Amino acid sequence: MKALVIYYTRTGNTKFVAEKIAQELGADIEEVIDKKNRSGPIGWLSAGKDAMSRSQTEIAETNKKPSEYDLIIVGTPNWASKPSPAIRTYLSKYDLTGKKVATFCITDGLESGEKVIEEMKMIIPKSESTEHLVVPNPAKNKVDAENKISEWCTRLKLPQ
Ligand SMILES: Cc1cc2nc3c(=O)[nH]c(=O)nc-3n(C[C@H](O)[C@H](O)[C@H](O)COP(=O)(O)O)c2cc1C
Repeated sequence: MKALVIYYTRTGNTKFVAEKIAQELGADIEEVIDKKNRSGPIGWLSAGKDAMSRSQTEIAETNKKPSEYDLIIVGTPNWASKPSPAIRTYLSKYDLTGKKVATFCITDGLESGEKVIEEMKMIIPKSESTEHLVVPNPAKNKVDAENKISEWCTRLKLPQ
Protein backbone atom coordinates (compact mmCIF):
# COMPACT_ATOMS: atom_id res chain seq x y z
CA MET A 1 0.00 0.00 0.00
CA LYS A 2 1.43 3.37 -1.03
CA ALA A 3 0.37 6.04 1.44
CA LEU A 4 0.78 9.80 1.57
CA VAL A 5 0.44 11.91 4.72
CA ILE A 6 -0.64 15.50 4.07
CA TYR A 7 -0.81 18.03 6.90
CA TYR A 8 -0.94 21.67 7.84
CA THR A 9 0.49 22.95 11.10
CA ARG A 10 0.69 26.38 12.73
CA THR A 11 2.55 25.52 15.93
CA GLY A 12 3.97 22.04 15.31
CA ASN A 13 1.47 19.67 16.93
CA THR A 14 -0.03 18.38 13.70
CA LYS A 15 3.48 18.00 12.27
CA PHE A 16 4.44 15.83 15.25
CA VAL A 17 1.46 13.53 14.68
CA ALA A 18 1.89 13.50 10.89
CA GLU A 19 5.54 12.47 11.19
CA LYS A 20 4.68 9.68 13.60
CA ILE A 21 1.98 8.35 11.24
CA ALA A 22 4.35 8.51 8.26
CA GLN A 23 7.04 6.71 10.24
CA GLU A 24 4.64 3.95 11.38
CA LEU A 25 3.31 3.38 7.85
CA GLY A 26 6.50 4.02 5.89
CA ALA A 27 4.47 6.67 4.07
CA ASP A 28 5.53 9.72 2.12
CA ILE A 29 4.75 13.01 3.82
CA GLU A 30 4.10 16.55 2.66
CA GLU A 31 3.34 19.75 4.54
CA VAL A 32 0.81 22.18 3.11
CA ILE A 33 2.08 25.75 3.47
CA ASP A 34 -0.44 28.55 3.93
CA LYS A 35 0.90 31.68 2.22
CA LYS A 36 -1.12 33.88 4.58
CA ASN A 37 0.79 34.87 7.71
CA ARG A 38 -0.92 33.11 10.63
CA SER A 39 1.56 34.07 13.34
CA GLY A 40 0.95 36.33 16.34
CA PRO A 41 -2.40 37.63 17.61
CA ILE A 42 -3.46 39.05 14.24
CA GLY A 43 -2.62 35.76 12.53
CA TRP A 44 -4.58 33.91 15.21
CA LEU A 45 -7.62 36.12 14.65
CA SER A 46 -7.49 35.71 10.87
CA ALA A 47 -7.09 31.96 11.36
CA GLY A 48 -10.29 31.75 13.41
CA LYS A 49 -12.22 34.07 11.11
CA ASP A 50 -11.16 32.29 7.90
CA ALA A 51 -11.81 28.85 9.37
CA MET A 52 -15.27 29.81 10.64
CA SER A 53 -16.27 31.34 7.30
CA ARG A 54 -15.00 28.21 5.50
CA SER A 55 -12.64 30.37 3.44
CA GLN A 56 -9.93 28.96 1.27
CA THR A 57 -6.44 30.43 1.25
CA GLU A 58 -3.45 30.58 -1.04
CA ILE A 59 -1.23 27.54 -0.52
CA ALA A 60 2.27 26.89 -1.80
CA GLU A 61 2.62 24.41 -4.66
CA THR A 62 2.88 20.83 -3.36
CA ASN A 63 5.20 18.26 -4.91
CA LYS A 64 3.55 14.88 -4.30
CA LYS A 65 0.68 13.80 -6.56
CA PRO A 66 -2.18 12.23 -4.56
CA SER A 67 -3.29 10.33 -7.68
CA GLU A 68 -0.16 8.17 -7.32
CA TYR A 69 -1.14 6.86 -3.85
CA ASP A 70 -3.55 4.16 -2.61
CA LEU A 71 -4.29 5.96 0.64
CA ILE A 72 -4.17 9.67 1.49
CA ILE A 73 -4.03 10.60 5.19
CA VAL A 74 -4.93 14.23 5.80
CA GLY A 75 -4.37 16.09 9.08
CA THR A 76 -5.28 19.52 10.38
CA PRO A 77 -5.44 21.40 13.65
CA ASN A 78 -8.92 22.17 14.95
CA TRP A 79 -9.68 25.81 14.29
CA ALA A 80 -13.04 26.73 15.83
CA SER A 81 -14.40 23.25 15.08
CA LYS A 82 -13.35 23.61 11.44
CA PRO A 83 -10.35 22.41 9.42
CA SER A 84 -7.62 24.95 8.72
CA PRO A 85 -8.14 26.91 5.47
CA ALA A 86 -4.92 25.40 4.05
CA ILE A 87 -6.33 21.88 4.35
CA ARG A 88 -9.74 23.00 3.07
CA THR A 89 -7.93 24.43 0.03
CA TYR A 90 -5.83 21.30 -0.51
CA LEU A 91 -8.88 19.01 -0.33
CA SER A 92 -10.78 21.27 -2.73
CA LYS A 93 -7.88 21.63 -5.17
CA TYR A 94 -7.13 17.97 -5.86
CA ASP A 95 -9.51 15.50 -7.40
CA LEU A 96 -9.72 12.76 -4.78
CA THR A 97 -12.71 11.02 -6.38
CA GLY A 98 -12.74 7.35 -5.40
CA LYS A 99 -9.55 7.73 -3.34
CA LYS A 100 -9.29 6.19 0.10
CA VAL A 101 -8.85 9.09 2.50
CA ALA A 102 -8.18 8.83 6.25
CA THR A 103 -8.37 12.00 8.33
CA PHE A 104 -6.87 13.21 11.58
CA CYS A 105 -7.34 16.28 13.69
CA ILE A 106 -5.36 17.82 16.54
CA THR A 107 -7.25 19.69 19.26
CA ASP A 108 -6.71 21.35 22.61
CA GLY A 109 -9.47 19.16 24.04
CA LEU A 110 -11.72 16.36 22.87
CA GLU A 111 -14.96 18.28 22.42
CA SER A 112 -14.95 19.40 18.82
CA GLY A 113 -12.53 17.17 16.95
CA GLU A 114 -15.29 15.04 15.47
CA LYS A 115 -16.90 18.11 13.91
CA VAL A 116 -13.64 18.86 12.12
CA ILE A 117 -13.52 15.31 10.78
CA GLU A 118 -17.11 15.56 9.54
CA GLU A 119 -16.35 18.89 7.90
CA MET A 120 -13.34 17.44 6.08
CA LYS A 121 -15.46 14.56 4.81
CA MET A 122 -18.02 17.05 3.52
CA ILE A 123 -15.36 18.72 1.35
CA ILE A 124 -14.52 15.41 -0.36
CA PRO A 125 -17.87 13.62 -0.72
CA LYS A 126 -16.64 11.60 -3.70
CA SER A 127 -13.75 10.06 -1.77
CA GLU A 128 -13.93 6.84 0.17
CA SER A 129 -13.51 8.02 3.75
CA THR A 130 -11.92 5.36 5.93
CA GLU A 131 -10.53 5.68 9.45
CA HIS A 132 -10.23 8.91 11.40
CA LEU A 133 -8.29 9.98 14.47
CA VAL A 134 -8.57 12.85 16.94
CA VAL A 135 -5.48 13.59 19.05
CA PRO A 136 -5.98 16.00 21.97
CA ASN A 137 -2.94 18.10 22.85
CA PRO A 138 -0.11 15.73 21.82
CA ALA A 139 2.54 18.05 23.28
CA LYS A 140 1.08 17.60 26.77
CA ASN A 141 0.57 13.83 26.61
CA LYS A 142 3.30 12.73 24.21
CA VAL A 143 3.44 9.06 25.21
CA ASP A 144 -0.37 8.70 25.22
CA ALA A 145 -0.48 10.39 21.82
CA GLU A 146 2.22 8.13 20.38
CA ASN A 147 0.45 5.02 21.64
CA LYS A 148 -2.86 6.19 20.22
CA ILE A 149 -1.25 6.95 16.84
CA SER A 150 0.51 3.55 16.73
CA GLU A 151 -2.73 1.73 17.49
CA TRP A 152 -4.54 3.73 14.80
CA CYS A 153 -1.85 2.95 12.25
CA THR A 154 -2.25 -0.80 12.79
CA ARG A 155 -5.88 -0.34 11.69
CA LEU A 156 -4.80 1.60 8.61
CA LYS A 157 -2.46 -1.21 7.64
CA LEU A 158 -5.37 -3.71 7.48
CA PRO A 159 -7.03 -4.20 4.09
CA GLN A 160 -9.77 -1.52 3.97
C1 LIG B 1 -7.78 30.10 15.44
C2 LIG B 1 -7.70 28.87 16.30
C3 LIG B 1 -8.88 28.27 16.75
C4 LIG B 1 -8.81 27.12 17.56
N1 LIG B 1 -9.98 26.52 17.96
C5 LIG B 1 -9.93 25.38 18.71
C6 LIG B 1 -11.14 24.70 19.11
O1 LIG B 1 -12.25 25.13 18.79
N2 LIG B 1 -11.02 23.58 19.87
C7 LIG B 1 -9.81 23.07 20.25
O2 LIG B 1 -9.76 22.05 20.93
N3 LIG B 1 -8.64 23.69 19.87
C8 LIG B 1 -8.68 24.82 19.11
N4 LIG B 1 -7.52 25.45 18.74
C9 LIG B 1 -6.25 24.91 19.21
C10 LIG B 1 -5.51 24.05 18.18
O3 LIG B 1 -6.36 23.16 17.52
C11 LIG B 1 -4.40 23.27 18.90
O4 LIG B 1 -3.56 24.14 19.60
C12 LIG B 1 -3.59 22.42 17.94
O5 LIG B 1 -2.78 21.55 18.69
C13 LIG B 1 -2.71 23.28 17.05
O6 LIG B 1 -2.07 22.45 16.11
P1 LIG B 1 -0.72 22.91 15.37
O7 LIG B 1 0.35 23.01 16.44
O8 LIG B 1 -0.43 21.82 14.40
O9 LIG B 1 -0.97 24.22 14.71
C14 LIG B 1 -7.56 26.59 17.94
C15 LIG B 1 -6.37 27.21 17.47
C16 LIG B 1 -6.44 28.32 16.65
C17 LIG B 1 -5.17 28.95 16.13
